[in-house]
Amino acid sequence: MERIPFSPPRIDQAIIDEVTDTLRSGWITTGPKTKALEKKLAALTGIENILCVSSATSGLEVVMKWLGIKAGDEVIIPAYTYCATANVVVHCGATPIMVDINPDDFTMNIEQISQAISPRTKAIVPVDLGGMPIDYTALQELINNASVKALFQADSEVQKQLGRIAIVADAAHSLGAVYKGVAAAQFTDVSVFSFHAVKNLTTAEGGAICFNLPSPFDNGALYKKFNSFVLHGQNKDALEKYGQNKWEYDVEEAGYKCNLPDVLAAIGLVEIGRYASDTLPRRKAIFDAYQTAFSNCDWAELPIFETVEKTSSYHLYLLRIKGISLEQRNAIIQEIFDRGVSVNVHYKPLPLLTFYKNQGFDISDFPVSLDCFYRVITLPVYYNLTDEQVQFITGVIKEAVATITMNKSLC
Ligand SMILES: Cc1ncc(COP(=O)(O)O)c(C=O)c1O
Repeated sequence: MERIPFSPPRIDQAIIDEVTDTLRSGWITTGPKTKALEKKLAALTGIENILCVSSATSGLEVVMKWLGIKAGDEVIIPAYTYCATANVVVHCGATPIMVDINPDDFTMNIEQISQAISPRTKAIVPVDLGGMPIDYTALQELINNASVKALFQADSEVQKQLGRIAIVADAAHSLGAVYKGVAAAQFTDVSVFSFHAVKNLTTAEGGAICFNLPSPFDNGALYKKFNSFVLHGQNKDALEKYGQNKWEYDVEEAGYKCNLPDVLAAIGLVEIGRYASDTLPRRKAIFDAYQTAFSNCDWAELPIFETVEKTSSYHLYLLRIKGISLEQRNAIIQEIFDRGVSVNVHYKPLPLLTFYKNQGFDISDFPVSLDCFYRVITLPVYYNLTDEQVQFITGVIKEAVATITMNKSLC
């Protein structure tokens, strides 16, 4: 059997046709396809105002800037996430305040968030890790708690209007995640999706900002504002100027440049058209097959991806092996690789990365993150992964674990 890759994109004739159509149309930058993708994202999530951008990172950063987050401010994030969550805070000159995660589903620990809140806290960035939503009701209760609100110090017009800590979700993994029967993004002020090449819905590179702010904010007006803000602050985009004698534009603020071009949105349009019918059911079937295959293995700590209140987007299948060391985990991954399967690790906690270590973050303050990192292996999940390949992968994993841990119990 050929090597099984970790997460290749589904590039088929439908994608090639849609991208080719965009190229032939002569309109390759932001235009009708990006706008069509935004409408479909709105229909999928129930959030009316969604703006596509060039990545989740850029989307998170422009939202932080708009919130007025600056030097001296604090933003609470999990220690167990991709570096983008923290880097955007650093880019604003603010301080990321890290908290540990829950051992059951890798989501941020709400009790620790509560302890981390200070008068400098301007935003909390929950990460729906692997696609599993955090406990949004508890988070909302926390930020709306009278004593937490009394502590809040608004330094910008936006912060004054909000009157409390903002919830800006890093929803890079969680397009399609459900909390209490609706899209998890409906429980945040702003959520930002990623459409990076390995994500459950891709545009090669890309992302989207969901505006879901409470009154008195006007989310439609915010969409328009950000449409300009991600294009240098120009008051007309390329489409508006094109083909008409409307070349002149103005710039009222120094914006960013992180719009999503149509040539990439074309991929997303095909992907979103088959998301509910193909992608999601297939991903769920693979999660279920892994779950069944490992259910009798005494060494396997199975991920939680469905509860009464939450359903994952089925983005990452995070298997943990009980009682192993970092060296054993790495040796198991090597064994798996040698037997023809590529797996991955999500994530190396931020305090273990040189930049954040040098900022003074100490991994011993985040024992759950460290324990998860030592024992986790992320398995392949993608539409084109066949049942035979899933069976092969589970066999390989069982053999690799048995070889390295000398665990002879059959499962
Ligand atoms: C948790 C998390 N946040 C943010 C990002 C950044 O997404 P993007 O590559 O679209 O900027 C990623 C990407 O892998 C991620 O996994």
